[in-house]
Amino acid sequence: MVNKPTSKALSELRAQVMPPGLTSGTSQYVASAKGAFVYDVEGNEFIDFAGGIGVMNVGHCHPKVVEAIKDQAEKLTHTCFMVLPYEPAVKLAQKLCAITPGDFPKTAIFVNSGAEAVENVVKIARYHAKKTGIIAFENAFHGRTQLAMTLTSKVKPYKFGFGPYAPEIYRMPIAYCYRCPFNLEYPGCDVACADHLNYFLITHTAPETTAALIVEPIQGEGGFITPPPEYFSKLAKICKDNEILFIADEIQSGMGRTAKMFAIEHWNVEPDLMTVAKSFAAGMPIAAVVGKEEVMASIHPFGVGGTYGANPICCRAALAVMDVFEEENLLQQAEALGQKVRKRFDQFKEQFEIIGDVRGLGPMLAMELVKDRETKEPADEAAKALVQSCLKKGLVILACGTLGNVIRILMPLNIGEKELNKGLAIMEEGFTEISKK
Ligand SMILES: Cc1ncc(COP(=O)(O)O)c(C=O)c1O
Repeated sequence: MVNKPTSKALSELRAQVMPPGLTSGTSQYVASAKGAFVYDVEGNEFIDFAGGIGVMNVGHCHPKVVEAIKDQAEKLTHTCFMVLPYEPAVKLAQKLCAITPGDFPKTAIFVNSGAEAVENVVKIARYHAKKTGIIAFENAFHGRTQLAMTLTSKVKPYKFGFGPYAPEIYRMPIAYCYRCPFNLEYPGCDVACADHLNYFLITHTAPETTAALIVEPIQGEGGFITPPPEYFSKLAKICKDNEILFIADEIQSGMGRTAKMFAIEHWNVEPDLMTVAKSFAAGMPIAAVVGKEEVMASIHPFGVGGTYGANPICCRAALAVMDVFEEENLLQQAEALGQKVRKRFDQFKEQFEIIGDVRGLGPMLAMELVKDRETKEPADEAAKALVQSCLKKGLVILACGTLGNVIRILMPLNIGEKELNKGLAIMEEGFTEISKK
C-alpha cells in the first residue's frame, strides 16, 4: 500500500510492480476529473484536451452518466448476457442501430474494447463473405491484440517484436494529401489514390479472396489524416462492385467527434459494418460491432460473445451518453466548437512556421509540425516539446501521427468557453516557446 498518494511515491511503487512497456505520457497521477478538468493527487488542475484518447466527448463524470452507473450498480452488475440476458443491452442495440448511418436493417453486438470490436468485425466479415483477405491502410491504427495489431500500420512501438502477425492482411496507401503517396496534388489528382484500389485488387489480392476493407474515416493515431470528399464513395463503389464489405472503424472518429454522429457521414457512405468504442460510454469499457442485419445474421449461435461483453453498467452508461447527445444538442455544440478551434489553428499556422498543415473535420482537428514547410521534414521532437510545455502550464494535449509530429485535440464537445480559451492560449504560449528553440 502507498501511504501517501503523491505522484512521486506512486511513480516509485509503479516502477517496482508494473513493467516499463506499459508507459504513461506524464508522471502526474490523477485523482479526479469533472467536465474538461482533471486533478492530480497533489490537487493541481489541468484542462483536458485529450479526453483519455478521445473517450470523453460528453466530458468527465457527466452527472447523467454517473447517475446511470450508480443506479445500475445497485440493481445488477453481471450475469453474462449469454447466460441471463437483460434490458439495457437490448435497448442499447436498438439505439445504436438507429443512430448509425445506413437506411437498412441493422443489428449490433457488444464487446469490451476497441481492439475486441475490430477482432469481431473481421471474424463476422470473413464468415459472411466466406473469404479471408482483409485490406487495411498505411497509417492505420486498429488496436493491439494480435489481429488488430496486424491491421495497425506503424511498426514501432505497436508491432515491433510481437510477430508473427496474422495472415491475409493487405495494406494499401491512404489519401494523405499533405504527403501524397502518389506525389500528386488534390484536386488535380482526381483522387487517383481511391482508383488505385482497382489496381491493388490485381497486384496484392483478388476480389474472389477479399472479404472486407477496413478503414478509419479520419485516421486517429495515424495523424488525423482526412481524405478528400470524393474518396470514400469511390472506395465504397469499388468494394460493392467486387463484393467486398466496407468496414468503417469509427472507434476514435465516432460519437460526435467530427460534429456528425459518425465521421463517415461526411462522405455520405453507408458502411456494411462499423466498430464503435471510446466515447460510446464515457470511459466505461464497452465497444460495439454494428452492421447490416444480413451480414451480422450469418454467424452461427454462440459464434461471437464473451464473459463481460454488454456489461449492464456499461450499457446504461452508453445509453446515458446517447441521452446527453440529445438533451444538450451535442452535435450542434461540436459544430460550433470545431469552427472556433479551426479558426484559431489557422491563425496559429499564420503565426508559427512550424505548423505545416491544419486538418480534420468538426472538432476532430490536428496540426502537423514540420521543420521546413518546403521539405516537410517532420518536427517530432518539437511536437513532444509542445506536449510537455503545455502540460507544465496545465493543459493536456496529445501528439500522434506515424511520424510522431502531429498535435491533435480531443476535448469534450461541451467544453466551456473559458477553459477552451485558456487551453488555446496555453497552446499559443507553447508554440511561442518551441518556436524560439
Ligand atoms: C480507430 C481505432 N481503432 C481501434 C482502437 C483500439 O481501441 P482500444 O484501445 O479500445 O482497444 C483505437 C484506439 O485508439 C482506435 O483509435
